[in-house]
Amino acid sequence: MQVVSTIAEVRTARPQWPTLGLVPTMGYLHAGHISLVERARAECGAVAVSIFVNPTQFGPNEDLASYPRDLERDLAMLRDAGCDLVWTPGVTEMYPPGFSTYVEVENVTAVLEGAKRPGHFRGVATVVTKLFNVVQPTRAYFGQKDAQQTVVIRRMVADLALPVDVVIAPTVREPDGLALSSRNTYLAPDERQAATVLSRALFAARERWRSGERSAAALRQLMQSILAAEPLAQVEYVSAAHPDTLAELETIDASGALLSMAVRIGRTRLIDNVVLDPAE
Ligand code: PAJ
Repeated sequence: MQVVSTIAEVRTARPQWPTLGLVPTMGYLHAGHISLVERARAECGAVAVSIFVNPTQFGPNEDLASYPRDLERDLAMLRDAGCDLVWTPGVTEMYPPGFSTYVEVENVTAVLEGAKRPGHFRGVATVVTKLFNVVQPTRAYFGQKDAQQTVVIRRMVADLALPVDVVIAPTVREPDGLALSSRNTYLAPDERQAATVLSRALFAARERWRSGERSAAALRQLMQSILAAEPLAQVEYVSAAHPDTLAELETIDASGALLSMAVRIGRTRLIDNVVLDPAE
């Protein structure tokens, strides 16, 4: 496994692999990230992982400074997972002095996470574009855990004809349903217990839909009522939206729906989602 930090080193290494899968990450890796590496390894001749805590996707009052980091542990996990190249860019090479160019995806970034975190998806779209331009991957792997991010990146790749196949992999969860996240490390033991309320609400709504409920309002109401029963949970939003446009739905039809939420457990902001797919 090659570990490099400069753009020049990535460009030198790249030609040895005809098909390369890229897994962009912010590090502090867990089994969710590793599932993306394994999927990439199964589908590509070689796998590259980028580790970069991207400052432009954090708001001024967010956790950029305290975002967890452990490069040695990350590298050991990636070695075990059979990763070929790790790129740990430096902030000044990603954002050189005078940096002025951003990628702005409209519409699908106006709601949900985009509404609560202004500028977040501008930062994500910009850094992912630069990662793609440097690594030039055949395929790039993203987790369903960040549902709106997958919608934004698919939109951007289609709109700008970026030469990469985007692959979305399922959310990896703890046995009690909590979606794996680097931010779970912030949770105190009682909060960790309370955090199961997100997946409990989502799974209950999915069951109600499977039993025939087609009113989006009824599903949002069911999720709200389950969340309201957890004293440590503060709801930011609960959504039942079209899976591609992210517009809030009245009725769930043959397009299915994305059920998603952002909830604060104490000081920790958690997001989770499930897709209602009629084809399943
Ligand atoms: P990060 O939060 O580190 O996540 C890296 C990738 O791992 C993302 O595609 C995310 O959706 C996926 N992931 C996280 N938790 C997961 C889980 N429980 N199951 C499956 N996949 C999971 O997302 C980012 O970084 C950044 O925004 C990035 C795309 C790297 C741009 O900076």
